[in-house]
Amino acid sequence: MRRPLIVANWKMAMTLAETRSFVQQFLALDQGRSAHLDLIICPPYTALAELAHLSRNTPIQVGAQDISAHTDPAHTGQISAALAADVGAQWVLIGHWEIRRERGDTPSTMRVKLHRALEAGLRPILLLGEAERTDPVPTTLRHLVSAVLQDCTPEEVNTMGFIYEPAWAIGQAQSAPTEHIHTGVQALREAITQHFGQQTAESIRIIYGGSVTPDQADNLLTLPSLDGLGMGRKGRDPAALAALVQHILSHRTARP
Ligand code: PGA
Repeated sequence: MRRPLIVANWKMAMTLAETRSFVQQFLALDQGRSAHLDLIICPPYTALAELAHLSRNTPIQVGAQDISAHTDPAHTGQISAALAADVGAQWVLIGHWEIRRERGDTPSTMRVKLHRALEAGLRPILLLGEAERTDPVPTTLRHLVSAVLQDCTPEEVNTMGFIYEPAWAIGQAQSAPTEHIHTGVQALREAITQHFGQQTAESIRIIYGGSVTPDQADNLLTLPSLDGLGMGRKGRDPAALAALVQHILSHRTARP
């Protein structure tokens, strides 16, 4: 059994005061349960250092939402992997649809960012999925895996987390249908098998993201291929995140 994974992406929200209040409320509700899985919260850059500080000696792990593809300082307004690591990020999201759309990141930009993350000691969480509901899921995921992960070793891939997140499922009232998620997760694991072998494909965690709520978690977690869930909007609500931890632990037995 793979260790379950939860990723909360706070996007462009949460002041420092809201971050402090979130951590206090979440820890009180969670009662240490999240120590049985990997719980990663990705705040905006402005709250990274504060969340890293507040999360010390707690089960909360901290991730950045993006990093620059560059390493030299002549990029006003950007944050390098080294700077994100310096304020306490341990993980980084690579390839969120909002960033791909708004900044024009291509799979080859994602590949560069992935290597920047690894060089700085950040563990990448790769977001992969199709843009349109009508796109062929297995082909799209095969192409993405080969474009983004082409220079990686199986050892590097083993350090990463994966989120299957179709663009059309973000910001909706309902998550994607379970059969669709199953197809995506299977296709992603098959693509990883083709490139990196069965052992790597069986050890990586693949979770689903896109309009996840605790109410839908039980239904989604009936999929045995799924190692956890990711939440955007709901991930800013301490009660919803604590409830998600409980749902996941009741469906998955954690490995120490
Ligand atoms: P959502 O966001 O849960 O609010 O749909 C998911 C995401 O963008 O990662």
